[in-house]
This record gives sequence, C-alpha cells and structure tokens, in this order.
Amino acid sequence: MKYFPVATDNLRVDTILNFKIYIRANNKFVLFRKGNHPFSEETLHRLQENKVHTVHVSEDDIENFEKYYYENVNKSNIKAEIFVPPFDQQENREKYYSLHLNYFPIERETLIPGFIVDFNVYGKNDLELDHILGPDREEGRPETIPEDIHESKKLIVIKNAEIPLYRKYLTQLTPERLNTKDISTELYYTLFRENSKLVVKEIFEDPRSGDNIQKATNVVEILVDNILNQENTFYNLMKIMSHDYYTYNHSLNVCSLSIGLGILRGLKRKPDLLELGLGALLHDIGNSMIDPCIINKPGKLTDEEYRIVQGHVKEGINLLEGIRNQIPQNSFFAILQHHEKLSGLGYPYKLKDERIHLFGRITGIVNFYDALVSDRPYKKALEPFDALKLMSDYQEDYDQCLMKDFVVMLGDQS
Ligand SMILES: [Fe+2]
Repeated sequence: MKYFPVATDNLRVDTILNFKIYIRANNKFVLFRKGNHPFSEETLHRLQENKVHTVHVSEDDIENFEKYYYENVNKSNIKAEIFVPPFDQQENREKYYSLHLNYFPIERETLIPGFIVDFNVYGKNDLELDHILGPDREEGRPETIPEDIHESKKLIVIKNAEIPLYRKYLTQLTPERLNTKDISTELYYTLFRENSKLVVKEIFEDPRSGDNIQKATNVVEILVDNILNQENTFYNLMKIMSHDYYTYNHSLNVCSLSIGLGILRGLKRKPDLLELGLGALLHDIGNSMIDPCIINKPGKLTDEEYRIVQGHVKEGINLLEGIRNQIPQNSFFAILQHHEKLSGLGYPYKLKDERIHLFGRITGIVNFYDALVSDRPYKKALEPFDALKLMSDYQEDYDQCLMKDFVVMLGDQS
C-alpha cells in the first residue's frame, strides 16, 4: 500500500474526515483515526503537541481526500499541489538543504552537443541527483556533450564550486565556435539570462560591493534597452520558466516584468526605467542577511520565522547604506515597499494607497505574481491564468489600474 503525505494545515477542525489518517512511526504507517469521524480541536492539539505536522492518507482513500480538500480547504477550484513532499523527516530536510544550497540550476539549452565540459552536470529530481555528465565520471577527464543531452526533463544543476568553470564555458559559445553567422535570438537570451543569474548570485553573496552594483546596473541597462526595442516578445524570453525557487531567478523575473509594466504605465524615459529595474532586481537583497534555511524552508514558516523573513525589507536598506550614492534614490522605493499593500495590511510600514510609490506598487504586483508561478517544495507553481485569477481576490491590496495593465501585458505575450 502506498501512503501520501498531507500537511495537518490541510485538515479543518470540526469537519468530518471521510478518509483514514495514518501516522508514520519507525518507518511504519500506523492508523491514527478511522474514516468518517469528526476532526476536533483536541485531535489537532494532540498532533501538534507531538510535533506531527504531516499525516498520511492511503492510496485507496486518495479520491475521498481530494474531494474533502476541494470542499473544505481550497474552495477556489484552483488546482493546487495537495500532497507535501516528505520533509517531515530530518534526513530528507538535510538532503534538501544540501542540494538547494550547494548546487546551481543551469538552463539545459546552454549545453550544446559536441562542446566539451570540464565541470560536472547533474539532473535533479526532488531529493535525488543523477550524474549526467562531467569529469568525475571520466577519471577527471573533460567530457563531450552528447546529442541526447536534452532528452532528460530533469532540472539541470552544477556544483556551486564549479560555477567559474561554467562561466568560462559560456564565454566560448560564440557564433564562430557554433559554426553559424549569428547566435539565434533564443540562445542569445538564454546566455544573457545565465550570465545575469550569475551576476545576481554574486550580488547576493556580497551585497555591499560597489563593483557588484555596477554589474547589476549593466544587466538592468541591457534589459531596458531590449525591452524598449521589442516590447512584445521580450518578457517571455526573459522569464525564467517554472523552476525551483531561487532568489536570483525570482529577482531577474521581477526585474524584467517590472520594467515591462513600468513601460505600459507610461514610463518611457530610460533613466526612470533604469531606476525601477535596479530597485526591482535588488528588491529582496535583504534576504542575503537571513538564514538560508529559513528563506528556503521546505514548509510553512512558524510565526517567529515569518517575523524574521519580514525583516528582509529593512535589512536590504541597511545593507545598501554604505553604497547609497551608487543607487538612485527612487530605486529604494521598490526595495522598501514591495510588500506594502494599498489596504494598509502590508509591511513594514503598513502604508496605504497613494503613500505607496509607483515603484512599490509595480514590484508588489510582480513579486506576488512571480511567487505564485514558481515551484516551492511545498507547493507547485500555478499556471499564469490561475495566478491572475487568484490575484483578483486581492483587489483592495493592489493597484487595479496596474493590475489591468499587467493582465494585458501577460496576455500579449501568450
Ligand atoms: Fe520580498
């Protein structure tokens, strides 16, 4: 019999559970409650007291559980991932952190058959790594990329320690080496995205470095030039598609979508777009000061952890204090206000309505959207349509004129 993990957050007090609940103990699944019984406050407390945050449902009850879930928990009819990965076990949590923090995701399109790699390439599937390519398989000898490299659909990652080798590899992908007159537009953007991701990663590792801010400014300038030149295709080409959540992917997505939304809102001057873009790229820079195990926690945050995460906004401003003169004043609005809400229910200052700067409103919408369409260990990415539908439930929080522009912008791309 197969058992599926379900977060206790997905059980509602005072409802009838029409499925059996099992608890995992010493690698066995033990029946905790029979089906068709009410789930009481007392039962929930008993689970919490024993630090049980995940229970299990057997495969013959899956349909009952799904029916219960859509009737009692997620009534929006938006398809959600309802079974949590097995992160309730310490061993799996450690594996997850080790993979997430020590490996860097790369785009498979940069691996061009016939080119030689002197770094190791792995396919990542949940908590497993599969060594696909590289010197560690060949007694230290570099390996040629095979023709069938793109057949695997797994996320491709490399070791953080081998990023310099990957960076060097990318510089060889020139038209001459590729035996073509021009690099295709798609490959051009893929390479630009990869290099930009590396720049953002460096900024997060050393946010006080003026050199890194200069590199970030260069990335934003190229983005702005490209978006101004080809408005309709660019956001799609820049978007890092549904991947595991990594701060640097998220930062780049928020940056390019914010610039696009800024243009639709009437910002046509390049200096304005540069200010918005840099602020959007750095909006979560404060996360670099927070324990990565909290930022990347594969599950729901405790109240205390949530308070720590909220601190990333002010941390970001403090971090950049020493290099303030290298960053335009208006860029700080994106960093400081991307979690504020028009209703006054945001943070850190609970600003309301017009007290939130345009850059704060733009990055607020884009930040929320990108979080919804990204995979997290405890939730699958929503489709863009479902994300926008869900956002329409928060009309008091987000500028509705901007929301309309945002929907138009995403519609134009698709
Ligand atoms: Fe944030």
